[in-house]
Amino acid sequence: MRVLAIPGSLRHGSYSRGLLRAAQELAPYGVEVEIYDGLAELPIYNEDLESAVPTPVEDLRTRISAADALLIATPEYNASIPGGLKNAVDWASRPRESASLAGKPVAVVSSSPSPFGGTWAGEQLRRSLAIAGARVLDRELAIGKVVELFDGGELADEATRRELAELVDDLVELASEAQAAEALAA
Ligand code: FNR
Repeated sequence: MRVLAIPGSLRHGSYSRGLLRAAQELAPYGVEVEIYDGLAELPIYNEDLESAVPTPVEDLRTRISAADALLIATPEYNASIPGGLKNAVDWASRPRESASLAGKPVAVVSSSPSPFGGTWAGEQLRRSLAIAGARVLDRELAIGKVVELFDGGELADEATRRELAELVDDLVELASEAQAAEALAA
């Protein structure tokens, strides 16, 4: 099983990206987690470009289509998700009839240096993904005071590592159910 992991932050030293590195380690045997690095290359969504889709957009759509599931780690910017991440969701939600996000199992983890863990960003991202037709995991994971949970750039807090591992396990289960349902329907 292949999981595409998308960090919502471009920042060098991003905690969101650090959480995804931890998810790579914590994923169960047989589950490969690949971190997507192309958010900054995507042009701002413009429906006029759909007739000749830019290469970075094609690459994003292909990677999402090829993945069995997505794991998105978002920070919170001004009580919402970062613009670059929303842009990626918009590109992946179109064209509606063949959108790479449609039916895709997705889990969301938000984080913040504040105690609230970017709850608003997580909620808004899940809502956008659901509207785009993704199969969004209900489980909510909002990691507060994230700065205190890292040591030497890596997620060190055992309780948070367990919660992240459980989120990945639930995502894998959701993806397996989706595959079984598709196999039955075929
Ligand atoms: C923030 N930050 C922030 N945090 C939060 O909990 N709620 C918020 O509304 C905001 N707003 C906000 C806006 C902007 C423009 C920036 C740059 C930052 C702080 C943010 O959570 C913090 O910088 C995180 O560490 C960013 O995530 P990464 O880059 O570590 O993944």
